[in-house]
Amino acid sequence: MSKELIIDGVNMVSLAKATGTPVMVFSQTEMENKLAAFKKHLVSDKFETQVLYAGKAFTCPAMLELVKAAGCGLDTVSGGEVDIAFRANFPMEKIFFHGNNKTPFEIHQALLSGVGTFVIDSEIELENVIAIANETGMSTQAVIRINPHISAHTHKYDVTADRDSKFGISIDKPEVMLGMIEKINACGKLVFKGFHAHIGSQIFDKGAFVTEIDTMVGLMADLEKQGVKIPWLDIGGGFAATYTEDDAPIPVPEVCETIITAAESAVERYGVSLEKLFIEPGRSIVAEAGITLYTIGGFKNTYSKKYIFIDGGMSDNIRPALYQAKYNCDVANRMDEEKCDVVTVAGKCCESGDVIIEDIAVQEAEVGDVLAVYTTGAYGYSMASNYNRIGRPPVVFVKDGSARCVIRRETYADMAILECSEQLDV
Ligand code: LLP
Repeated sequence: MSKELIIDGVNMVSLAKATGTPVMVFSQTEMENKLAAFKKHLVSDKFETQVLYAGKAFTCPAMLELVKAAGCGLDTVSGGEVDIAFRANFPMEKIFFHGNNKTPFEIHQALLSGVGTFVIDSEIELENVIAIANETGMSTQAVIRINPHISAHTHKYDVTADRDSKFGISIDKPEVMLGMIEKINACGKLVFKGFHAHIGSQIFDKGAFVTEIDTMVGLMADLEKQGVKIPWLDIGGGFAATYTEDDAPIPVPEVCETIITAAESAVERYGVSLEKLFIEPGRSIVAEAGITLYTIGGFKNTYSKKYIFIDGGMSDNIRPALYQAKYNCDVANRMDEEKCDVVTVAGKCCESGDVIIEDIAVQEAEVGDVLAVYTTGAYGYSMASNYNRIGRPPVVFVKDGSARCVIRRETYADMAILECSEQLDV
């Protein structure tokens, strides 16, 4: 085994020296392979399919290039995500715009930039979209988000479809859906396309997706009996990734096969005419492709713990503090040594909860060694903050032995740029 960690042909210890730490590294090959696998396996001869990458997991123009090259569409959830896609020349017609409280500004912006499909979350939002579409003269397609009341077994913050969820129209309110469809069809600016649901994130259970599809197709059948046409179904994302050896996510081909089989069978049983099926994977495309490199700055032994201190922490990875997320790691310059030291990896933020990994066996490290934390590609950078005025790390894509920086390190000057002293008329 090589002494130093190699990712996609690039030596991580040399990379850490070149960029400084912390730095987030993504294997471009791994992301390309995941996008291609979803695209290849999500196929049916009964209906069309489309993979929408959920940009909230991680986005930047270089990432959007990969999504575009793979022929996938994009799930966005804010004006900021629409803006980055627009600037990256992403095909706007392939964008779905989500969110439970799109502001008038965001609705304007998305309509004017040609977003292909709005996922409408509520009746009030529909009124707003119709009004702004009329005002701007812009048209778009509309999908209604449904809450199918399905609880997937995942962290409570990652559940999105229990009865009290803030998202979507409750499945037991078909009259609300029918009213919304009528308004969409009558307004002349929106074209009703179908339904969307998303049942959570980091889901390991195939059965949850089968239940979701069955429930949604059943709903479509009920409403079609009342004379409405519902050509599209978008079942969201939520497919799990491997963080530690305890995780056994469903492999991409199997996820896709499960979805296609469930959809084909439900469509036949319920006798509905589904034209197009969409999925929205985020985590499963980028999580495992990403790692974060830190420099070890010190150690501390307390009564029952040995801490390793790293030069980042909850500012670049809030997930352990927020979701008790588990990670695995290695000392990147000691890959050939045994993992016989049990340590707790703590960040540099002024918060006791700033622990990235609790009680993990690693190689015996020294100050200056490089710690590689695996599977940080999803919701790491995108949820990073400036807490304690720590700048966000740079992001590097590696592929076949070469490395390119796609987001540079955030400097004090970058943070200072927002400071001002402007008199307000209030
Ligand atoms: N579609 C919709 C409507 C969503 O709300 C989400 C995620 C996705 C797709 C993508 O889900 P994925 O395939 O990535 O699981 N910050 C949390 C995850 C929040 C997920 C929010 N919605 C975390 O770090 O675990």
